[in-house]
Amino acid sequence: MTATTSARPLTSSGHDAHVAGLEPVLTASHVSIDYEVSPVVHAVKDVSLTLHRGEILGLAGESGCGKTTLAYGLNRLLKAPALLTSGEVTFHDQGGSDIDVVALGGDALRSYRWDKVSMVFQGAMNSLNPVISVRAQLYDVLTTHRPGMRKREKAARAAELLDLVGVDPGRLDSYAHELSGGMRQRVMIAMALALSPQVMIMDEPTTALDVVVQRGILREIMRLRERLGFAVVFITHDLPLLLEISDRIAVMLRGEIVELDTAENLYASPQHEYTRKLLGSFPSLTGDRGAFVRTGEHQEGRHA
Ligand SMILES: Nc1ncnc2c1ncn2[C@@H]1O[C@H](COP(=O)(O)OP(=O)(O)OP(=O)(O)O)[C@@H](O)[C@H]1O
Ligand SMILES: [Mg+2]
Repeated sequence: MTATTSARPLTSSGHDAHVAGLEPVLTASHVSIDYEVSPVVHAVKDVSLTLHRGEILGLAGESGCGKTTLAYGLNRLLKAPALLTSGEVTFHDQGGSDIDVVALGGDALRSYRWDKVSMVFQGAMNSLNPVISVRAQLYDVLTTHRPGMRKREKAARAAELLDLVGVDPGRLDSYAHELSGGMRQRVMIAMALALSPQVMIMDEPTTALDVVVQRGILREIMRLRERLGFAVVFITHDLPLLLEISDRIAVMLRGEIVELDTAENLYASPQHEYTRKLLGSFPSLTGDRGAFVRTGEHQEGRHA
């Protein structure tokens, strides 16, 4: 067990049984990623981290520090001019063997990206296809990755997925413009859940949403992770939010992870100067430290 639950009011049951094992699911080892432009951008520098099964790992840091680039590296989504210049990424498949992610190609790579590790992209709610219904977009994922699935099964799974993320399955035949921003984001999460991945990487999944909608979605993610057991890499520059929902938090600065600790430790005794600065920049986190945790425990609308 890496974290107590005192600062995590969004956790529905408050228990972390599935985090307790500390079994790794995804490991990055000395990963460096450059953008090969002139002059070259060293976006990620020698990053090592381990994501455990069922864990929520927060990734914090200011704009441009390399969060998205690292996420793409973990999910093998880097495209030129981005290049992984060194390091290893290993996926520890449930009940299976270790997978060398960097060496993957073809079908194995496609399967890795949706089946094993899925991603909710930054700005995803605006990337639903406007001319295709939600149903068709969900079917698309299922048809591509589960070619043997019958239409009836797809219909059932699509409805189940919307239900899982708190959207009325009656919305299956809606188009993006007919949905609110919150609903669109929930649909994107449903798509990422479609193949029951072991890891979900969520890049700023709620940043564009108003606080009430944001908290509703966060609560849903916490519930789903407890129910389905996937691990989450949750990227945002909203550190107070990460303190509430994460088991551990990695703080990134100019391409490097400068601190990685449990949410409680990071809050109570930040080691790195930049972490202290980051904590200090949120007025709600200054002053009586205990107050944050206590307030966090009892108030739903802390971000309001
Ligand atoms: N296609 C690209 N070509 C060149 N440089 C890039 C490219 N994409 C990103 N970068 C640079 O790489 C660095 C890391 O960018 P990245 O998008 O990973 O940061 P981020 O932490 O996700 O930022 P944000 O919080 O704004 O999303 C930045 O300096 C950025 O300017
Ligand atoms: Mg980003």
